[in-house]
Amino acid sequence: MTDTADAVAVPGSEPPVTRRERRRSEAAARPWWHTAVVYQVYPRSFSDSDGDGIGDIPGITSRLDHLAELGVDVIWLSPVYRSPHDDNGYDISDYTDVDPAFGTLADLDHLIAEAAARDIGIVMDLVVNHTSDEHEWFRDSRSSADSAKRDWYWWRPARPGTTAGEPGAEPTNWGSFFSGSAWQLDEATGEYYLHLFSRKQPDLNWENPEVRGEIYAMMRWWLRRGIAGFRMDVINLISKRLGADGVPGSLADGAPRADGWGNGFPQYVDGPRMDAFLAEMHQQVFDAFPGTYLTVGETPGVTLEQARSYTDPANREVDMVFQFEHMGLDSGVGGKFDPKPLHLPDLKANLARWQDGLAETGWNALYWDNHDQPRIVSRWGDDGEHRVASAKTLATVLHLHRGTPYVYQGEELGMPNAGFTSLAQYRDLESLNYAADADRLGIEEATLLRGLAAQSRDNARTPVPWDASPNAGFTTGEPWIDMTPGWETVNAQAARADQGSVFHHYRRLVELRHADPVVVDGAFELLAPDHEQLWAFTRTTADAQLVVVANLSGEELGFAMAEIGLDGGAPLSEVAVASHAEASRPDGEGRLVLRPWESVVFRRAV
Ligand code: NOJ
Repeated sequence: MTDTADAVAVPGSEPPVTRRERRRSEAAARPWWHTAVVYQVYPRSFSDSDGDGIGDIPGITSRLDHLAELGVDVIWLSPVYRSPHDDNGYDISDYTDVDPAFGTLADLDHLIAEAAARDIGIVMDLVVNHTSDEHEWFRDSRSSADSAKRDWYWWRPARPGTTAGEPGAEPTNWGSFFSGSAWQLDEATGEYYLHLFSRKQPDLNWENPEVRGEIYAMMRWWLRRGIAGFRMDVINLISKRLGADGVPGSLADGAPRADGWGNGFPQYVDGPRMDAFLAEMHQQVFDAFPGTYLTVGETPGVTLEQARSYTDPANREVDMVFQFEHMGLDSGVGGKFDPKPLHLPDLKANLARWQDGLAETGWNALYWDNHDQPRIVSRWGDDGEHRVASAKTLATVLHLHRGTPYVYQGEELGMPNAGFTSLAQYRDLESLNYAADADRLGIEEATLLRGLAAQSRDNARTPVPWDASPNAGFTTGEPWIDMTPGWETVNAQAARADQGSVFHHYRRLVELRHADPVVVDGAFELLAPDHEQLWAFTRTTADAQLVVVANLSGEELGFAMAEIGLDGGAPLSEVAVASHAEASRPDGEGRLVLRPWESVVFRRAV
């Protein structure tokens, strides 16, 4: 792909900025995305306009008013690029075209314009750790060991002393994230290529400057179309310790994982050139355009120290990263499909550590849900009797931390997990590969189904329920995956009509963030860290304080404010936002009783 880094933005290429600009002038020192709320759309399951059972871009455009009412500033659009859909679009075969299942480039331009008209920017998903094996780069690379693009991917011969193809001949013992070896033998040349994800997702070799040049050119091409930034898929895997500049490095086997393959993570996560690659990308892409963009890196396994470096504005790399430590707190000995109950103090402590760690330098991305995680109300809330209250309370604690909150489609409706009871209902390759491995791993069917029901990525991938019409108004055809039961009552139309709904609670949280600088800037302090039901913290600026108290249990919870370190200061009389219509308040003695799953955010002057 050819273009020049110094290309001038074409008219209309700046991101839509009315609301952002207003806030920017209110707080010149603060980047616009500090006050923004991002909403993630997983296109396949959002809204289907043509009745083929698969959500599409015109479907998204037709639902923009829902998002405008919610008040979000940005849509992160999961991949809509051309793809064979081995991993639902995270396997891209053409970065500069839209997959026909989702529509056309013209549809996307129209979506960008219609979103802009509502003050909403579009952030594209950037999936450049790997391509599809059907991308022309990979086709060329695999065509011969002499291909000019051979070095664009990670090719390695069989392990010394073995014959290619025999068990154990893989260059290392690394397992892929999606079961099986991370190496695939290519018969044509007798060499293996690396695929950290599925075998249809070969890893790009970022050491090769031509690869990087193509990617930066592609990113500029998207910025010229008027997008507001990028969410960067597994971006901290792009610098691998496999030997720089084509010189084979040490290929070390990894420690055994639960499935018998080796853990190669230390060899390819947060590698030595990460900071250099991100800084180069920033300079080659974002510095070439006027305006400021939102960049968020997906960074599994990232440590706080690394995150601080990636998001330190002085380093000019990315604005924020998604960390995963809290998402692992309910993984059991057998991994994520062997979940264990959450111990609330661990979760509070984890988020607090990230609050403190990025308080001075960097910025947090706050999330419960995305297309890879189960639904939060089922995971750590109560999707039965207390569905509404627990969804609101989980939203409150997250959105009142410091950072940019991300809302995943359906989360604002308090959607529960998919409720699948048979293997035939699953579509996700991670779940299906795991199921295919179950016999070998000695996992019984009931255990397998329990693990998948709790943790499968399909939990978050069922269609968004829009109304009570057939298939919840998602499609006039057959949905590509079963609907989550209960959509006759849990749907967007019903939620928008009910001021007490989860939807309106999210809307109020977004509104509060936009209106009140304490939500954005206030220093964070965790209270009662060891309490197993109460999540309490303060956010404080020079002139105001928010006091957040949340009951994360189905039992009534009483405590004295003094017990949690809040015995002084102005009375807690003003309620900024609350889960229940009539918020509970401290009595004359400073004792507060919260109902099951109740949360209250008080605001006072300091
Ligand atoms: C992370 C994405 O969020 C996930 O959905 C995908 O399967 C992998 N990266 C591979 O792209």
